[in-house]
Amino acid sequence: MLWILRFSWFFSAAMLMIVLSPSLQSFPPAEAIRSSHLDWYLRLPTSQFSIPDPFSFRKADVFRNADECGFSDPNITGVCNPSLVHVAITLDVEYLRGSIAAVHSILQHSRCPESIFFHFLVSENNLATLVRSTFPELKFKVYYFDPAKVRNLISSSVRQALEQPLNYARNYLADLLEPCVRRVIYLDSDLVVVDDITKLWNTSLGSRTIGAPEYCHANFTKYFTARFWSNFRLSGTFRGRKPCYFNTGVMVIDLVKWRRSGYTKRIERWMEIQKSDRIYELGSLPPFLLVFAGHVAPIEHRWNQHGLGGDNLEGLTV
Ligand SMILES: *[C@@H]1O[C@H](CO)[C@@H](O)[C@H](O)[C@H]1NC(C)=O
Ligand SMILES: *[C@@H]1O[C@H](CO)[C@@H](O)[C@H](O)[C@H]1NC(C)=O
Ligand SMILES: *[C@@H]1O[C@H](CO)[C@@H](O)[C@H](O)[C@H]1NC(C)=O
Repeated sequence: MLWILRFSWFFSAAMLMIVLSPSLQSFPPAEAIRSSHLDWYLRLPTSQFSIPDPFSFRKADVFRNADECGFSDPNITGVCNPSLVHVAITLDVEYLRGSIAAVHSILQHSRCPESIFFHFLVSENNLATLVRSTFPELKFKVYYFDPAKVRNLISSSVRQALEQPLNYARNYLADLLEPCVRRVIYLDSDLVVVDDITKLWNTSLGSRTIGAPEYCHANFTKYFTARFWSNFRLSGTFRGRKPCYFNTGVMVIDLVKWRRSGYTKRIERWMEIQKSDRIYELGSLPPFLLVFAGHVAPIEHRWNQHGLGGDNLEGLTV
C-alpha cells in the first residue's frame, strides 16, 4: 500500500496539479506534461522510491525572461519590497523533488522571475543550503515550523500522509511570515505551474480573505461525518452560507485580513472539536472548509487541475 501511494506520488510530482496556460490548453494535459522540462535538471535517485539524496539536484538556470523586470538593484531585494510576488511552499525531505520542481516551474514560466520571493516552510534539516545551491539567485527565506505546534491538534485521518505536521503549516502563514507581507500564494509541493504566477497573484479577492478554485458540483456533505451534520450546534456554522468544496493546494491569501480576523485560532478551534467529536475524515482541508467555504473568492479553475496523477476511482486523490 505504501508503495502504491509512493508510486502514485512519484507521478504526482510531475503531474498531479498542472496550471494550464492558455497556450497549452489546446493540447490534452498529458501532452503538456510529457513535454515538461523537469527531467533534465532533476536527476532521479538510483531507486525511484527511496528518499532522494538531498544533493542530487543539478543547478537550475538563472531565468531572465524579460529585459524590463528591473530587480537587479540588490538594495530592493528585501522581503518587504511592495513589488514582490510572495509564494509559500513547504520543503519536506520526503516531497523535496516536488517542491524543487514547483519552484523551477514557477521561475521558468514567469515573465519576471526576479520579482518572486519564496517563503519555504520546513520542519527539519537545513534545506536552505540545498535551495541556494539549486537556485543560486533565488529570493527566499526559510521558516521553521515547529511540529509541536500542531501535534496535539492532529487527529488520525484516512491517509497517513495527511497527518504530517507540515501539512498544517499553511494555517500559520499569517503568523510565520513578516508582517509586511500582505498577500501570499500558498502552493502544495505536488504541482507544476505552467503560466506566469503573477497573473494568479493579481487576482482580485474582493472583500474575501482567501481565493481558491471552487467546485460547487462536489457533494459537500461527504466532507463531514453524519455526526457533524446531525449536531446543529456544529453544522449551524454553515447557516446563511452557500458552501462549496475548494482545494487548499492552490490559494491566494490576504494576510492582512487573516491576521485581523484571527483565522488561525478559528481553524485551531475546529481541530480541537475534531479531536473530541470526529467531525471529518480528512486532514488539514476540512477546517478550511468550515471557516471559509461560501466565503471564498473563486479563482479560475485552470489554476488547479487536480486529480491528474491520482486515482479518482479509489478516492486516493481528494
Ligand atoms: C545600496 O545601499 C548601499 C548602502 O545603503 C549604498 O551604499 C549603495 O550605493 C546602494 N546601491 C545602489 C545600487 O543603490
Ligand atoms: C499585475 O499587476 C501589476 C500591478 O497592477 C501590473 O503592473 C502587472 O502587469 C500585472 N501582471 C500581470 C501578469 O497581469
Ligand atoms: C451527498 O452525499 C451524502 C452522504 O454521502 C448522500 O447522503 C447524499 O445523497 C449525496 N447527495 C447527492 C446530491 O448526491
